[in-house]
Amino acid sequence: MTPLSVATLTGERCFEELFDLTDEHDVGHIRLARDADLVVVAPATADLLAKMANGLANDLASTALLATTAPVLAAPAMNPTMWAAPATRRNVERLTADGVAFVGPGEGLMAERGESGLGRMSEPLEIVAAVEAALGAAAASGLLAGRRVLVTSGPTHEPIDPVRVLANRSSGRQGHAIAAAAARAGAQVTLVSGPVAIADPKGVSVVKVESAREMLAAVEAALSDGPPVDLGVFAAAVADWRVEGAAQKIKKGAGGPPALALVENPDILASVAKGPLRPKLLVGFAAETENVIEHAKAKLARKGCDVIVANDVSPESGVMGGVRNAVHLVTSAGVESWEPMDKEAVAEALAARFADMLETRS
Ligand code: C5P
Repeated sequence: MTPLSVATLTGERCFEELFDLTDEHDVGHIRLARDADLVVVAPATADLLAKMANGLANDLASTALLATTAPVLAAPAMNPTMWAAPATRRNVERLTADGVAFVGPGEGLMAERGESGLGRMSEPLEIVAAVEAALGAAAASGLLAGRRVLVTSGPTHEPIDPVRVLANRSSGRQGHAIAAAAARAGAQVTLVSGPVAIADPKGVSVVKVESAREMLAAVEAALSDGPPVDLGVFAAAVADWRVEGAAQKIKKGAGGPPALALVENPDILASVAKGPLRPKLLVGFAAETENVIEHAKAKLARKGCDVIVANDVSPESGVMGGVRNAVHLVTSAGVESWEPMDKEAVAEALAARFADMLETRS
């Protein structure tokens, strides 16, 4: 199996070298270890199990395993004599005590001609079932286990005519990261997303919309469908105005540039806050270019939500469309300002805070 085959078959990048300059620059071994929900070692050789049991970190795989905070699942594969060897027995015992989960090995024919016994790697579908069980167990004990969460994310596109739109620079990164973090924390998550260029988060049910009015309809449908929503996080950059639309493409003409007549869009957050299906905890975002905190405090009252996550999106902050974010949590109790972090880390920390806030409310 070559790295190229792995990359081609999975459609993902294959990492090999610990200090490969390109890989380390693009991702870094620590990030590789931290981004995973679960690390699966398949095949787990006797040598790699021995390294894991002893905390050795002299190549990329063993370093990522030592650096990860995610659960680890190992699918051992080795000769039966090596599996039965006292050293391997000790290593497996120690790894089990460290919390590593195992799938297999199974009985069967070995790669060595004519040999058979215990040591054969589990079949791929058995490993998939073990992955699902491990992820399910992590979700069931998560901070938002049993909660329903609704997230809005991304920009909206408001049609000017059938081919043109009014848009904004929101990438959807922060909202999508919050949906992913809530799912990892065990919540059942619906994400209503405007047009974005990023992938759907894992484990989340995604509803794609274009305009503010479509977003409102999707949010209302999600709120009225199934058990009550516990947490609403409205991170979308919803257009405040839409264009009184032209049914046909506006043509260049002698009359000069067309005048666009704007009408106000529904405020999704404010209308949900007032409505009968208001989630127990309702969170809005405030993207401001100046006086961030004052505006956020005013917004908390005006919108009727419980928390405003405020951030500075002035061009020099690099937040809009960027990967890092510095947020202020504004509630009736006061203001909490967080250090700048990756949007993923902000999402993780927000999910934990919202879980805490929900605990004290119910
Ligand atoms: O009023 P402003 O757009 O600054 O408010 C931002 C917050 O309100 C965000 O949480 C955003 O998702 C939400 N919002 C909304 N519907 C709108 C405008 C904003 O839900 N039409």
